[in-house]
Amino acid sequence: MSSYTVRKAVIPAAGLGTRFLPATKASPKEMLPLVDKPLIQYTVEEAVASGIEDIIVITGRGKRAIEDHFDRSVELEENLKGTGKSQLLNQMRQISTLANFCYVRQSEALGLGHAVLCAQRLIGDEPFAVILGDEIIDASVPALAQLIHVYKKRHGAVLGVQNVPKQDVGRYGIVTPKRLGKGLHRVIDLVEKPSPAEAPSTLAVIGRYILPPEIFPILRKTKPGKNGEIQLTDALKELAKQSPMYAHEVVGLRHDAGDKLGFLIATVEFALKNPSLGPEFHEYLATKMRATAGMRRA
Ligand code: UTP
Repeated sequence: MSSYTVRKAVIPAAGLGTRFLPATKASPKEMLPLVDKPLIQYTVEEAVASGIEDIIVITGRGKRAIEDHFDRSVELEENLKGTGKSQLLNQMRQISTLANFCYVRQSEALGLGHAVLCAQRLIGDEPFAVILGDEIIDASVPALAQLIHVYKKRHGAVLGVQNVPKQDVGRYGIVTPKRLGKGLHRVIDLVEKPSPAEAPSTLAVIGRYILPPEIFPILRKTKPGKNGEIQLTDALKELAKQSPMYAHEVVGLRHDAGDKLGFLIATVEFALKNPSLGPEFHEYLATKMRATAGMRRA
């Protein structure tokens, strides 16, 4: 196997999900459903469709439901078998066979950089992917597969980016790019959550990364930054000084499902695309919009 094969992905899921309180007080944000699948299952399916075999989930207190979701549920399977729901039974079994799952507990939410560092022993000395489950990317070629394609050609860290409106740059890590070609840039520098005036571009890092193992010693030395958290962006800044780093403009429709409005929009989009719900839901929305427009005119 080539040393440029990306087999492992880290899914940091130990954050506190404060933007979704009180829903996330006792349940993991990653288990919020988009129609009928929890957010984290979309992330895992994207990784598997991109060739990932091993998934390392960084969990914390109150996140047990994630492990249960990707495990078998023998009692449920017996029930579905007994009631002849064989299609549903197969779907449930398939969830636990998607990949090899490992879990590492981050005992305190010390930041995304710290969460990634928790995976060091399981990653070892090979390149790996990081996927944030907050960002759901609806794409014909999975977003992570797009990054792996660039990594195989360039052999440097690759960050998934998309252009965001100038007024939104303060919600993201923003790159200082040097354009290399269509949708591809060399990353000269990065800045975490800049103001619109300080932002070096509008290319925002959108929760998809291919990283070399050299990131770990850097993370170990990274001091807490913004919000007192160990920021992945700070370690990436350092890595970009040591070796070439690339930004690939991901082709796909991105939803920030970690935010209430983004989550609602994603729910509507996925419900409309759902073959069994879409037509009726579309009808409901159209009737609702007509009624609302009527009320406004009255
Ligand atoms: P966010 O800051 O967006 O997520 O972290 P959060 O903390 O869960 O949510 P809010 O902002 O308070 O609503 C980005 C990703 O990093 C993970 C989160 O689970 C999320 O997937 N994370 C963050 C960790 O795993 N550990 C941390 O210490 C911090």
